[in-house]
Amino acid sequence: MEMPNIPQPTYYIFKCEQSSPPGMPKPSCVSDATKDLFNHMGQRLMEKGVMGPVQPIRTSCLGRCQMGPVMIMEPGHIMYVQLTKEKIDRIIDEHILGGKPVEEYMIPDQFWGEPQALS
Ligand code: FES
Repeated sequence: MEMPNIPQPTYYIFKCEQSSPPGMPKPSCVSDATKDLFNHMGQRLMEKGVMGPVQPIRTSCLGRCQMGPVMIMEPGHIMYVQLTKEKIDRIIDEHILGGKPVEEYMIPDQFWGEPQALS
């Protein structure tokens, strides 16, 4: 099969894009106040010239709704919580471009910790 030569991305960013239906008491990551975070992130990645090596992906619920908006960065399995545009800008500058995750925006250990064993 003929396939174009597409290089592997350096980072994937899985951003929760789940919004609760009206009337649902459960919190969710997307509301009127936060609905343009994903587009903001895409714009910033383009401005910085790293769209491609960095792939932002819209996902549904990542199971940490109380701390939304959230996203997971791979590799590293790093979850960032309570996102704002300013936090996303800093994550792009320091984590993606600088290679140094922004610890103060990461999910606290008691809500994440180590991966669960499979058995
Ligand atoms: S709605 Fe985003 S983590 Fe559940």
